[in-house]
Amino acid sequence: MKVAFAKTEIPSAGTLVALVADGRKLGKLAAQLDKATKGAVARALEASRFKGGAEEFLTLLAPAGLDIVRIILAGIGQPAKYDALAAQSLGGRLVSALNGAGEKEAAIWIESFADLKLTETDLATNIAYGARLRSYRFDKYKTKERPEQKPSLKRFAVLTADANAARKEFDPLDKTADAVNFARDLVSEPANVIYPVTLAAEARKLADLGVKVEVLGEKEMQRLGMGALLGVGQGSDRESQLVVMQWHGAGDSKQRPVAFVGKGVTFDTGGISIKPAQGMEDMKWDMAGSAAVIGTMRALAARKAKVNAIGVVGLVENMPSGAAQRPGDIVTSMSGQTIEVLNTDAEGRLVLADAMWYCQEQFKPKVMIDLATLTGAILIALGTTYGGMYANDDELANQLAVSGKATGELLWRMPLAPAYNKMMDSPAADMKNISGSRNAGSITAAEFLQRFVQKGVHWAHLDIAGMAWSDKDAPTTPRGATGYGVRLLDQLVARYYEEV
Ligand code: BES
Ligand code: MN
Ligand code: ZN
Repeated sequence: MKVAFAKTEIPSAGTLVALVADGRKLGKLAAQLDKATKGAVARALEASRFKGGAEEFLTLLAPAGLDIVRIILAGIGQPAKYDALAAQSLGGRLVSALNGAGEKEAAIWIESFADLKLTETDLATNIAYGARLRSYRFDKYKTKERPEQKPSLKRFAVLTADANAARKEFDPLDKTADAVNFARDLVSEPANVIYPVTLAAEARKLADLGVKVEVLGEKEMQRLGMGALLGVGQGSDRESQLVVMQWHGAGDSKQRPVAFVGKGVTFDTGGISIKPAQGMEDMKWDMAGSAAVIGTMRALAARKAKVNAIGVVGLVENMPSGAAQRPGDIVTSMSGQTIEVLNTDAEGRLVLADAMWYCQEQFKPKVMIDLATLTGAILIALGTTYGGMYANDDELANQLAVSGKATGELLWRMPLAPAYNKMMDSPAADMKNISGSRNAGSITAAEFLQRFVQKGVHWAHLDIAGMAWSDKDAPTTPRGATGYGVRLLDQLVARYYEEV
């Protein structure tokens, strides 16, 4: 599907979408269409329950007096409450409705309403952004789809008085949408296609955008002493990788960066502490944290963000084999701290321990945020609506919460406390990788990670196990891989860390 901006002109084919505010307040276009159809719009309203609420649509088919085949009245609710997210949602829901109706081309007419805080251009670009995000599809392995099973909508035009201004303002959103969809592709790919070496190759492509990309293999990681990460990958025939991405967009390229660290377990069988067969296929998306980091780096570079940002992702496959790590093994992490591996299925924290340590040693970031599908326990706590957030700094936690609200990628702050930290002490080593109790499972995982945060680093950990994948459609996210984290972190940087 192509999104285009064009001037306000009644089209001669396809669907035309007109905005209506709460209480059936017709916009200028809707009023004009009512005249052109000799009152059909008013009669349709009268015959329906449509009130102009923010989630409502009313469709009129084959309107007499016009060449178009369909009018959709789209509600925006109370204009004073309408924001960018609501506009994105409208764009997304329209794409879904139009595909459901078998429409090939559609246009939405942008106009302002009294009390609407968004400018016409903001309204136009956010509708376009939502449309793009919703039209994502991972269908490369479907070879037998008939045309009528494929999405019908080919062209979605946003009609606005200043199409040039809209095009210009849309450019960074368009690039962020590309990055979200890229992350979704990485997460959707099965583990026989995306494994550490091939995922590293995908990250390497960011070099085209000016990102410096380095890939460390097992030899180099051995030399660095990354016994925690390497232990997880040692049961797999596929070589573990550490990918380091650098984007220097600040005026001073030496300015301390913002760093993102991602868990990239390309498949998590659990290792010797093997998972049950039921649902194990889901563990192909145990690399969603790394996809969010790679996607964010892509968004920042593509829109030339004025920031220095680092992305580090630890890529491993967690497999059982004769070479695999055993429960009870003690490994030495790059930090020098030793870890008793009591459960080989608590592997994400082992990968992050070394990836985070490397990131801090190498780049001295002022802020470090890690993302990981880390625990099933966060699903028990928060379900699939909010991601879990832990932070050692209130300001960073607040920035993340605000960015989450602004993008719809919500975060809920969870507690850290010494009593939880103590639960990770081991009699045999500096710490163990599981607490041994099911209580507070996501918190104790975060406490484990905190032991690898250096003094003075403002750190946040996002447990995104409930957010990486969705089994139902949302307005701007079709079911499947969500690309969660890209919009959130891109927004965080834009709001708080970019030079103006
Ligand atoms: N990748 C899983 C966490 C996960 C579970 C993500 C379900 C998405 C959905 C992680 O590596 C894991 O296995 N965690 C264990 C930790 C436990 C052994 C302490 C878990 O949550 O059960
Ligand atoms: Mn696991
Ligand atoms: Zn895992």
